[in-house]
Amino acid sequence: MTGRFTVTAALPYSNGRLHVGHMAGCYLPADTFVRYLRSRGEEVAFICGSDDYGVPVSLTARKEGRTPREVADFYRAEQKRDFDGLGIEFDIYSGTSATELHTERSQQIFLSLLENGFLEKRSCEQLYDPEAQMFLPDRYVEGICPFCDTGGARGDQCEACGKLLEPRLLIRPLSVITGAEPEMRRTVHWHFKLSEFKDRLREWIESHDEWRPMVRNFSLGLLEQDLPARAITRDLQWGVPVPLPDDPDAEGKVLYVWFDAPIGYVSFTAQWCREQGGEAEDYTRWWKDPDSKIIHFIGEDNVVFHAVVWPAVLMGEGTFQLPDNIPANCFLNIQFPGKEEEKMSTSRGTAIWIKDYLERYQPDPLRYYLTMVAPERQRTAFNFEDLARRNNEELVAALGNFVHRNMTFADRYFDGRAPRRGDLSQQDKEQLDMIAGLPQKVGCLMEDYRFKDALHEVMAAARLSNKYFDHRQPWALRKVDMETCGSVINVCLNTVKTLAVVMAPFLPFAARKAAAMLRAGEDEMRWSAAAEPLPEGRELGEPEILFEKMELPEQQEG
Ligand code: 2FM
Ligand code: ZN
Repeated sequence: MTGRFTVTAALPYSNGRLHVGHMAGCYLPADTFVRYLRSRGEEVAFICGSDDYGVPVSLTARKEGRTPREVADFYRAEQKRDFDGLGIEFDIYSGTSATELHTERSQQIFLSLLENGFLEKRSCEQLYDPEAQMFLPDRYVEGICPFCDTGGARGDQCEACGKLLEPRLLIRPLSVITGAEPEMRRTVHWHFKLSEFKDRLREWIESHDEWRPMVRNFSLGLLEQDLPARAITRDLQWGVPVPLPDDPDAEGKVLYVWFDAPIGYVSFTAQWCREQGGEAEDYTRWWKDPDSKIIHFIGEDNVVFHAVVWPAVLMGEGTFQLPDNIPANCFLNIQFPGKEEEKMSTSRGTAIWIKDYLERYQPDPLRYYLTMVAPERQRTAFNFEDLARRNNEELVAALGNFVHRNMTFADRYFDGRAPRRGDLSQQDKEQLDMIAGLPQKVGCLMEDYRFKDALHEVMAAARLSNKYFDHRQPWALRKVDMETCGSVINVCLNTVKTLAVVMAPFLPFAARKAAAMLRAGEDEMRWSAAAEPLPEGRELGEPEILFEKMELPEQQEG
């Protein structure tokens, strides 16, 4: 894997703070992957921002008595703080209502599709709330899902079965605003002829057998069914205006939020290029050049939009590259003590907010735990006790302990310097071989988007390294053979260095501390330099603890 990478993470709606489920879904794996690529010296653009338009933000604005713009600006800034706190470092975190480049780009793509014959203006019947005197697109209406019979399904998508919906398909629909039973009214909308892309989409998805089975199977399954033309405009005020000033039918209409949202990836790239001192048009390098690989990190509910609708839009527009991979994670459930696993839900208060977590704890243990239980192939559950236990038993007792015992040993008995490596025993050589093979092993798994397995390899190496230390007993050697003791500590400090490099994508805060203790510069912390020997005699930094023991909230209070 070499070259240029355009990495995106799904744009969160700017109508609330972020919780651990959001992070596990796509932001943490995306950040981990990007950190790995950067360590390999690849050229990367890591793009994200908030999804400001459409019904989710409008509904929150109504509830909070603010304008949609106020709500979007407020939560965008809050979300940015959550990301910063967890060390999720995008090159740009913009918002779809925060830059005129997004309006321009979305309107341009709409017009290209129209010109290329993939849009059709159609009169259609839509649900209308007679009390609120407005049409009820998408989440403005809820009812029973016609596919799986689950209640509370939203007008755009059923969360339970993941199927795309239209409000008029819902059984017993009700207006979310007034609770009224909606009536049917005629309106006009531009529809995207999705079915025209069926064969190309199938061929393209089938050519990617490296994708996660959930993403491939779900989207291929959708292509087996009818793909009716979908309305990509709405009768709403808050959104990107339909750019047809000479058409009276376009008045009072905006683009559908799921049409403009993925275009945000492109417009934010343009904004970033401009902020870097270049031209907005430079975005083409990241989106149209066949040497750029486009990777969309998303959650399971976004698969249909990223693997079917968005690629069809790109095909229809005609000048963009298609995504190279769409690593989607499943949902992360939550399990409270003594309770059954349940869905994380903001409205029911069954979520752990990043802000609350960071008020008490360090970011790395959460990053660690969320990767170790990542729902990469199926839904998994977050359990706070489990997080604390794994922090204490794994991060503190294995990885942190190995680093700390060696840094303090060198500090105390080798004058704070890396000792010389003399003759090596078989065990020393085996330890060095194990460490030399680690970057390649972890790297292959990262390139396969198997972050959980990759982190397991790092931790297995830390455990083996502790065993090596215990077997070689440098504390005993020190009393009888200082030279051999020095060789063992040399091997161990080199192990710390390799571990610091391979843990960095997962645990960036701890890796930074470890690098500082080794006085290792940026070049030495590159993936390719992970197993290069630390210069003998190198003066080391002050030993520091990498991970603190975590106590559960009850234990702290008691
Ligand atoms: O599901 C969501 O939260 C959407 N806001 C994701 C949008 S992803 C992209 F297309 F912008
Ligand atoms: Zn359903």
